[in-house]
Amino acid sequence: MPPRTPKTTAAPWVPEDGGLTALQLASRECRGCDLWRNATQTVFGEGPAHPDVMFVGEQPGDKEDLAGHPFVGPAGRVLDEALAAVGIDRRRAYVTNAVKHFKWERGSGQRRIHAKPNQLEIQACRPWLEAELRVLRPKALVCLGSTAAQALLGRTFRVTVHRGEWVDSPLAPNVLATVHPSSILRAPDEAARAEAMEAFIRDLRPVAALLASAETRSAAPGS
Ligand code: URA
Ligand code: SF4
Repeated sequence: MPPRTPKTTAAPWVPEDGGLTALQLASRECRGCDLWRNATQTVFGEGPAHPDVMFVGEQPGDKEDLAGHPFVGPAGRVLDEALAAVGIDRRRAYVTNAVKHFKWERGSGQRRIHAKPNQLEIQACRPWLEAELRVLRPKALVCLGSTAAQALLGRTFRVTVHRGEWVDSPLAPNVLATVHPSSILRAPDEAARAEAMEAFIRDLRPVAALLASAETRSAAPGS
């Protein structure tokens, strides 16, 4: 008989019930794929238990891996800036990643260079994302970049074609994808950076408008 190869999936580590805290705690022990081996710690999603909106990035970066919190490095600052520009309160947003461990390669010197997670790793980590959606039930779900979009909307989804558009998905009542904030940091010069930032902000405006109108409805007397 051939030896049984263990399946690459987070599923055995994901608790079937309990809320966000139970998920956060359990995720620390995940060995669903090999990425935990070279990472400092699991970087799980963070935010309120009843967020207006859930943002999904790719994976923690170097700073996030060390801090244990998502989007606290340079990409997080771009996200903060864009949220402030459209008037989304980051404290009411839940931020997470498609993959919860930092994947990296050794660069020159001691630098750890971000390495793109592969399909196997993205699929392995997806049960965490599904569990986050199950307990949080956000009104709006925003995929930041192609890794998140492909993890959640399928491998044929093209962010370049459909960025900033509402897409039909059973995952949340309102779902949209845009670029990853780190793509703005990679712009070749200041003018390109400003333009990329403007386009990112433009993509987030419908999300801000949706959240604002939901707020107006719930604040209206007699509603
Ligand atoms: N990039 C991501 O996709 N997620 C983070 O948490 C940080 C950088
Ligand atoms: Fe588990 Fe995801 Fe980390 Fe892989 S990347 S070990 S599936 S939490």
